[in-house]
Amino acid sequence: MEHTSNDGLWYHHEMRLRVPVQCVLLTLVVGCTGSDPTETDPDSGPVDERVHVTPGPALTPFSEPFIAGGATAFAADAHTLVARVPGDLVAVGPDGAAIQLGVDADLYGAGRTSDGSLFVAADDLYVQHAATLVASPLAEAIPGAVRSLSTRGTDVWLGTDDAIYRYRVDDLVRVAVDGATGQFVVAGRHAGRPLVWVAAADGVFGLVADEDQFSVAESVFGEPPDSLAGDGDGNVWFVMDGELVQRGPSGGITTFVFPAPVNEVVATPSASGVWVGTESGWLLGDGSGFRPVLGVDHVVGGDGIGRLLFADATGVSRASDGRRIELVGVDAGQSLVEPTTLHVYTSDPQHLSTLTVTLDGVSQVVTEGAFTVDPTDPDAVAGLHTVEATAAFASGDPVTASVGFTLGNWTPPDWDTDIQPIYADHCAICHGGATETQLGTEADWLERMSCLLEMIDAGAMPPNGDDVAPTEFATLQTWCKVQFPSGSTCSDFETLDATALCGRGGQ
Ligand code: HEC
Repeated sequence: MEHTSNDGLWYHHEMRLRVPVQCVLLTLVVGCTGSDPTETDPDSGPVDERVHVTPGPALTPFSEPFIAGGATAFAADAHTLVARVPGDLVAVGPDGAAIQLGVDADLYGAGRTSDGSLFVAADDLYVQHAATLVASPLAEAIPGAVRSLSTRGTDVWLGTDDAIYRYRVDDLVRVAVDGATGQFVVAGRHAGRPLVWVAAADGVFGLVADEDQFSVAESVFGEPPDSLAGDGDGNVWFVMDGELVQRGPSGGITTFVFPAPVNEVVATPSASGVWVGTESGWLLGDGSGFRPVLGVDHVVGGDGIGRLLFADATGVSRASDGRRIELVGVDAGQSLVEPTTLHVYTSDPQHLSTLTVTLDGVSQVVTEGAFTVDPTDPDAVAGLHTVEATAAFASGDPVTASVGFTLGNWTPPDWDTDIQPIYADHCAICHGGATETQLGTEADWLERMSCLLEMIDAGAMPPNGDDVAPTEFATLQTWCKVQFPSGSTCSDFETLDATALCGRGGQ
């Protein structure tokens, strides 16, 4: 999601240069030999923008009842959501089926790793074993109670009151930042590497890891954030001092000032969009602006595909800007080695009229919402593959979800080896200084990815007849899908009009 001026309708902007920060202390990293914080170069720091938001037209969300009765809910991931109900915890699957976990304890967080284990932080730390939760031996290795939890791939991230821990295949690393509050989010990338944002007394610090060595790559100074989240478009969101701060996919910082102070932000790494809780109600940000959401009051969290969970007298419901569809069973970018079954779930199943699923554009046979990808099939081709599912309903717009995964021995394209040479051959002659738009770095490309792809696809760039070859274009598309696994940024260009999309402010 890219926030730009959008005809000045919903936003107005101020620009300022971000003040470089040089005095970050990273202390006590157990299991590491220690590392130096990286300084921000004062001359090349990203521009910091300040935007006053005028909310757009109100949105009546599509909402469906989810859990009956009083529950406090926490998202695990797209697959499972763990909810606290009186006397127990329940795990609710995407089809709405609930499993009682048999634990009566306050819930702090939950997440499922890509090898299938469900971790739950609830007074003690638990891990799923068959249909029950058992105490995790990890809890003994961590002093203090686990108060936040998140999973990425096979990694488990755990937060206590003053530190965070990363557990990766039998290896537990403690990461302590001075003044850390134990709140964190794993979101966004710095020079291609995943960032872990740790909240501390004087701001929030983006850490990158080299094996077991962590260093501060970026920081946003101020108060400790009241709330933090990451979305599927590579944005990281913080609430600081009643304002919403966005760290965009290429590192630019935008502060959004709403008419009423902001308290909370909800987003999920597998979906586009951000929910913003202000003192005068909730808004949904979708990249083109923020719209007040009607009928949503007591929010208890978000689910794994970007729906907002809210409680009312009848129980917990989930709200979204429209019907949703989800593909469950494979994580974006996952490398498959065994036959794997994917399930398709949609909102509003009783009004579903057709469900179609394609693999690399070829229709698949779907039985009871499930189909299988078989990497052991002799015809399976190594590389990146895309599954797309589309559901049409008796009325209203169809909804689509897609996920990319890889098969076999395959190296994803990267900037230095694959993309920079395409830039050098076809674009540098004009965009290496002569034109207003600079395209010489990976960040320049990531910032306007869908616009770039669309202009090349439409033949609008390069304008001198030195066209990008189809194989080069395919490499760019693959690179985009690897960078933005949730897909929206890479598929935009197939449906949007080049002038409408790229004219936004000219950048
Ligand atoms: C012969 C010169 C030339 C070449 C080669 C060229 N461009 Fe451009 N490009 C321009 C000019 C002129 C503009 C308009 C001024 C500006 O936005 O900087 C432009 C604008 C753009 C924009 C901005 C559009 C907007 O509205 O924001 C993008 C994106 C772009 N070019 C991408 C590319 C890519 C990618 C390549 C290489 C595959 C490329 N161009 C090759 C001349 C060129």
